[in-house]
Amino acid sequence: PRRFRVHHLRQAKERGKPLTMLTAYDAVTAPIFDEAGIDMLLVGDSIGNTMHGHPTTIPVTVDEMIPAVRAVARSTRRAMVIADLPFGSYEAGPDQCLATAVRMLKEAGAHAVKFEGGAHLTEHVALLTRSGIPVVAHLGFTPQSENLLGGKRVQGRGQDAAEKLVGDALELANAGAVAVVLEMVPGAVAARVTEVIDVPTIGIGAGADVDGQVLVWTDMAGMTSWSPRFSRRFGDVGAELHNAARSYAEAVREKSFPTSEHTFES
Ligand code: KIV
Ligand code: NA
Repeated sequence: PRRFRVHHLRQAKERGKPLTMLTAYDAVTAPIFDEAGIDMLLVGDSIGNTMHGHPTTIPVTVDEMIPAVRAVARSTRRAMVIADLPFGSYEAGPDQCLATAVRMLKEAGAHAVKFEGGAHLTEHVALLTRSGIPVVAHLGFTPQSENLLGGKRVQGRGQDAAEKLVGDALELANAGAVAVVLEMVPGAVAARVTEVIDVPTIGIGAGADVDGQVLVWTDMAGMTSWSPRFSRRFGDVGAELHNAARSYAEAVREKSFPTSEHTFES
């Protein structure tokens, strides 16, 4: 299969073909999503919550991200692999941002990076773009700033906040961002952003009037008892896994596994 690349993003937007993105964190699930035809696999810093048991994404480090990105890149063939830059690894300035992004490409094999924030990061985006690194922007609710934002809240409500968000998206796109993730913003605001920028918007809790959607795979597949209102469980994989583990334990206890077919002869 041909690798999904940056020019396919703009092409999809022009043709009105919805883009698909899922998170992935390892070489077990990433090839499954890749073969299912997901366009972009985001190695999100949501690895902190979903895989490492942290309450937020804030403790996630670059050294934790690198092996996850590497596993996803090495185990997939078609999807564009996007590495999230974790909290504290890019904010200090464009040079810090470039250094972290370079690690994601050189050490881990990412094809693009994503980081959270608005127009104050246009220089970051511009430097990476000049350096040959595609950048995905992330606006709206930005989990790394949840302490400042006052929790997991919808962003861009009200005229001023909506205009600020549209302006941020425009500046980041003008600086070279290849796509913009919009998290937890009113549908009408996401629609407006989608209309005014010429690169794709990828929504999560941003309604249907965007160029594509992204979900955290554990929410999408039904791995947890709780999932956010904006998500949907497209499967019950957690229950399946539970059943498999229980059947295995039962078989061992009742000695129906292993049998002679699983046993080596001398
Ligand atoms: O880390 C993540 O999973 C994300 C998506 C929610 C966009 O940033
Ligand atoms: Na993230």
